[in-house]
Amino acid sequence: MARHISHIFILHLLLIPCTGAWGDNALIIELGKDLFSNMNLSKNRNVACATCHSPENAFIDPRKDVAEGAISSGTIKNSFGRRNTPTLTYTLLTPPLISDSTGPIGGLFFDGRVNNFENQILHPLFDENEMGLSNELMLFNRLKADSKVKEKITQIFGQEALETPGALLNSVQSSIAAFERSKEFSAFDSKYDRFLAGSYTMSKKEERGFNIFFSDVSNCMNCHLLNKGTLSKEEPFTDLRYHNIGVPRNQLLAEEKIRGPSYNDRGLEENPDFSNAENRGKFKTPTLRNVAITSPYMHNGIFQELRTALLFYNFHLIKNESALTNPETKEYWGNPENSDNINDDLLTLGQPLDAAKVDSLIAFLKLLTDERYEHLLETK
Ligand code: HEC
Ligand code: HEC
Repeated sequence: MARHISHIFILHLLLIPCTGAWGDNALIIELGKDLFSNMNLSKNRNVACATCHSPENAFIDPRKDVAEGAISSGTIKNSFGRRNTPTLTYTLLTPPLISDSTGPIGGLFFDGRVNNFENQILHPLFDENEMGLSNELMLFNRLKADSKVKEKITQIFGQEALETPGALLNSVQSSIAAFERSKEFSAFDSKYDRFLAGSYTMSKKEERGFNIFFSDVSNCMNCHLLNKGTLSKEEPFTDLRYHNIGVPRNQLLAEEKIRGPSYNDRGLEENPDFSNAENRGKFKTPTLRNVAITSPYMHNGIFQELRTALLFYNFHLIKNESALTNPETKEYWGNPENSDNINDDLLTLGQPLDAAKVDSLIAFLKLLTDERYEHLLETK
């Protein structure tokens, strides 16, 4: 079954960039882009995909309204999501979830519960904590009243697409997915990409960071590289696998109006296909592309600074006072949200990160920023 899905996914990738049954791909992308920012796709016409995934900010949520920006608010007043909104850059490189000899790999969301963009879109559209549309009929009525969207849909998908709610929903799914697969999300033009192409020279500090990252001085590449042993041009900087790195609970989410005091995010275990205790607390490794501008960090948005996220790894490497304090709160990091299944095998590899190593790693990670976002680095 898993292999079957992966063939379909590959077919999508091959077909969509070509001009095919749906006419000009540039038109579909343009329509997808419009729909991505269209507030009419939410119940109260106040939230679009772009509200939580801002194109100007590597598709994260720049609003700081809830829990220091960790959790996005949805269309309904006082409705909140439950996880930190991830960047959508380079999500194109995520295949459907399969299990290989090492375990599960791929899939969308922190728990991999969806296999492609087309199906993913249905979640925010109809989730009452996000865009909150009641059903596909509501979407149908909204879009039929929008003459510009109607015109583009007819041009690309033909009159049939406007005939039934199901057909219209399909065209919305295809268009937004085509936009998500476009270059706007995966530019491959960061200084790192330019370095690989021979048109950027790293500073000494950046080079030190590069060497720390790509060696057993640190443990980073065990989990933040897909193509191990090569410098791949299409490296997503995640192994696309699931690990528990012992991230502490974010107490802000325990507020009554957000998730309540008993809330515990069990990660991969919450995926219906992987609902056993050995998956508790494991989350899909996030990409490190654009990471310097996608604060806050981790599935629950607990860390504000990139430096903090890096120092947190010392928690597993140094078992004394010096590594037990979160520099943001000046207090103990806090117990892991889930203390089962912490990946000690990999987290205890490598050397502790002293201040100089952290500086170098940050300099290297900044190189992973797409060109269009480089201006944001100055303010970070
Ligand atoms: C209210 C905020 C919000 C809105 C609106 C929203 N998203 Fe998201 N999005 C999130 C959060 C939070 C997650 C992570 C959820 C999880 O992992 O369970 C996410 C995850 C995703 C992912 C998976 C990324 C990955 O790396 O696994 C994709 C793709 C995505 N959203 C696309 C969209 C699209 C397309 C829309 C509009 C149809 C949209 N989102 C609307 C908050 C939002
Ligand atoms: C055992 C696998 C593993 C190792 C080793 C590892 N990471 Fe991670 N990393 C993860 C996972 C999984 C997450 C997300 C955890 C969560 O949200 O609960 C993460 C999150 C992060 C984040 C936050 C990204 C975001 O968008 O929220 C940064 C930054 C990061 N890692 C950098 C590094 C660096 C630098 C190293 C080496 C010093 C490293 N990691 C080593 C698996 C790993």
